[in-house]
Amino acid sequence: FAQTATVSIDADNPGDTIEPEIYGHFAEHLGRSIYEGIWVGEDSDIPNTDGFRNDVLSALQELEVPVIRWPGGCFADEYDWRDGIGPREDRPRRINTHWGWVIEDNAFGTHEFLNFSEMIGADPYVAGNMGSGSPREMSRWFEYMTTDMDSTMGLLRAENGREEPWDVPYFGVGNESWGCGGNMLPEYSAQEHNRYATFIDTDWTKGQEVKRVATGANIDDYAFTEALMELGRYNLMDAISLHYYTFTTAWEDKGDAIGFSDEDWASVLKNSLRMSELIDKHTDIMDEYDPDNRVDLYVDEWGTWYNSTEGSPAGFLEQQNSIRDALVGGLTLNIFHRNTDRVKMANIAQMVNVLQASILTDGERMLRTPTYHLLNMYKPFRNATPLPATVDGDDFTIGEFTLPYVDVSVARGEDGKLVMALVNLSPEGAVTVRTGINGTASGSILTAPAMDSHNTFDNPDNVVPADFSSSNSRGRLTFDLPPRSVAVVIIEE
Ligand code: AHR
Repeated sequence: FAQTATVSIDADNPGDTIEPEIYGHFAEHLGRSIYEGIWVGEDSDIPNTDGFRNDVLSALQELEVPVIRWPGGCFADEYDWRDGIGPREDRPRRINTHWGWVIEDNAFGTHEFLNFSEMIGADPYVAGNMGSGSPREMSRWFEYMTTDMDSTMGLLRAENGREEPWDVPYFGVGNESWGCGGNMLPEYSAQEHNRYATFIDTDWTKGQEVKRVATGANIDDYAFTEALMELGRYNLMDAISLHYYTFTTAWEDKGDAIGFSDEDWASVLKNSLRMSELIDKHTDIMDEYDPDNRVDLYVDEWGTWYNSTEGSPAGFLEQQNSIRDALVGGLTLNIFHRNTDRVKMANIAQMVNVLQASILTDGERMLRTPTYHLLNMYKPFRNATPLPATVDGDDFTIGEFTLPYVDVSVARGEDGKLVMALVNLSPEGAVTVRTGINGTASGSILTAPAMDSHNTFDNPDNVVPADFSSSNSRGRLTFDLPPRSVAVVIIEE
């Protein structure tokens, strides 16, 4: 016996285009994210191209990553960009004080990051240091990356092997200034943004552009957004950021990535849905100060954060990734699709080996996580026009948590076809989803036998997408969703 739910679509009220950048990633100098995860060096036994591991490169190329935020995170506000240029053997050895107190040998610096972004076809989003660096250092870094003039910075870049300037379309002015980025009060942070952003300049005579991103609120710190919107200069602030991580209960009780209870399943999904309320409330404040939508909201850190894998190094934030994480991904992307008027970028934390990673590595082995497959399945939503959709169906309750069985997102692709994502949040119940649509639908589904099914290096294809199509009930499309599943279909009407 399956539950039933009915999806209704409001085709007359389309939202703003779903920017591909909401499928962005975040890669920080943290644990094995950069070193081993992406960069192994030219002399490594792990097959690589100019030091970047080939397996990870090709997995990311397939994923068509639109944008990558780097080098942090907390790391950004202790990073001196000059440490990461020039001959590698001369680069200084620093301590990564935020993440494991390990040596950062700076083998991966500006050139490596920007070349890597080019190799996978992603736009770079560089986060500058507002916490412990000066506006001049920040400005010189930007000049080093982007100028086409024979200024000292331009010449230095050429001397270091890169004649052509890079395009850096997004620049973050600091990170989490309310915490690891300097423990600033909201008003002070807004003022500092104005000061630093003044010196992130492009050559307007050539029509160059950069989006300057102000470090914004954590979770529900609405006072922070209020101060930024009140005091930030909108000609210097193209976007503000929001960070929200999903814990099982709270920061103090992050819970486990696998081997969890039914209640923990429900708690994590419930917490991931909180993104909706957070975006609503932050954007209400933005609407008040900026009714013309000049300033975007970038959710430039999001994802699940659990207790680290037992035995992994302290401060490396390593965790497994299960079908539950894929569902968190689907629910969160669906929320972004509903808020395209302000949410123009989002960056899942993080890309490889850290938190809700798309890719895990172990020496020369690599696997794609359920989150990777989810992001791959959602690609047809990029540049599509979202259509409001509602679900008429039951809720289920586990312990203190009540959740809807089904969550849906619908959009009209550039090719005119409908794309629909369906998430069945229930750990045990199948659901039949009815629609009023005439036509055929096919795509893929991600599901798994257990709540914490995941991929391992010995069994990397334990959780992978399968083909999925509709059944047809009296001319209307119907979908049979197994428990713990997320499906994406293209509909031919
Ligand atoms: O992603 C891990 C950390 O979480 C980032 O460095 C920081 O910005 C956030 O607190």
